[in-house]
Amino acid sequence: MSEGLHGGELEWVVAKRHRVSVDRLTSFANTVSPIIPRSVYDLREQFRRLYLYAPRDAVDVRASIASYYGVHANDVLLGAGSTELIHLFFQAIAPAHVVIPVPTYSEYASAAQRWGCRTTLVPMTSDFQLDLPAIRRAVTPRTRAIILCNPNNPTGRFYRRNTMDALVRLADRSGATLLVDEAYLCFVNARHAFSMSRSATRHNVVVVDSLSKLSGAPSLRLGWMVARPTLLRRLGKLKVPGTIGNLALWMTPGLLRDRGHQRHVRSLIARERAYLERQLQRIPGLTVFPSDCNFILLRLQRPGIDADRLFERMAERRLVIRAAGNIPGLDRHFFRVTVRTHPDNVKLVTALRALLP
Ligand SMILES: Cc1ncc(COP(=O)(O)O)c(C=O)c1O
Repeated sequence: MSEGLHGGELEWVVAKRHRVSVDRLTSFANTVSPIIPRSVYDLREQFRRLYLYAPRDAVDVRASIASYYGVHANDVLLGAGSTELIHLFFQAIAPAHVVIPVPTYSEYASAAQRWGCRTTLVPMTSDFQLDLPAIRRAVTPRTRAIILCNPNNPTGRFYRRNTMDALVRLADRSGATLLVDEAYLCFVNARHAFSMSRSATRHNVVVVDSLSKLSGAPSLRLGWMVARPTLLRRLGKLKVPGTIGNLALWMTPGLLRDRGHQRHVRSLIARERAYLERQLQRIPGLTVFPSDCNFILLRLQRPGIDADRLFERMAERRLVIRAAGNIPGLDRHFFRVTVRTHPDNVKLVTALRALLP
């Protein structure tokens, strides 16, 4: 049943199929923060202003995002979720050739196809590291972009500085743009997390990030891109005006200033990820791939059950996991679970233990 679906749709499909309210489900497929920050609840005070249209330049919000990264407001473009910006990027460079290391977030290949870009998918190594020599071989004089997700969805791997520097050099040398999607950076341990946004103003680098994951509220729809103003002006001309709502704009500056919430989320994720990894490693036939962020990729090698079947069995228990067989570079044995609060994670472990004794 999860075949061909975007991870973000799964809760609705399970709720309909099992005739239950979506509120009765616990989703380990949805990859947002399990804790809702104060800035989301504060939005209630703004409801009286909902009659207002959002300001189109949203310069204050761009300035607050810029100061979060240490760049200038003109280096920031807003979109209705990072999805809109990812699509705009492919639209702007189409019909160019792009290189995408896989497995990764499947929206990149979908967007490339939608806008008529030619795509080379470069498989990662068997332990899901980037195969840099293979990426270098795939980049030709016609390549306009290399697309990377850091940390990577669905593997959870965070590529370190030397890997990213090598890719920036490759982009600068070849004239291709390195697009780095940092949607899950907010969950990486602060000791080794770093953003490529500063490089975006000096090199052929574009960074996209999203309000969805840290806010735990993807319904609000806001994403941003950090890049050179020349590229942003091109994308800005293609962008449909009026796609961004006030609710997302109102909460963003507060959320980015709220370092306490950011630390709280990071430490909860680190603690609970360690708990889940320990517990899941004990389940026979399950391979746990080490993760640096808020989800874990798993491989199920047991007779009579693959990830799709496991998805069905979990859904009967009102738990939603992400079977990952439809992600290029993976197969029907892979699935992904999101790190949630401790009581939810205990539910997940208990159900998996029962189904995979
Ligand atoms: C890696 C990655 N980037 C971007 C997105 C899209 O996020 P949004 O459009 O809500 O900003 C997702 C959603 O799951 C994602 O996994």
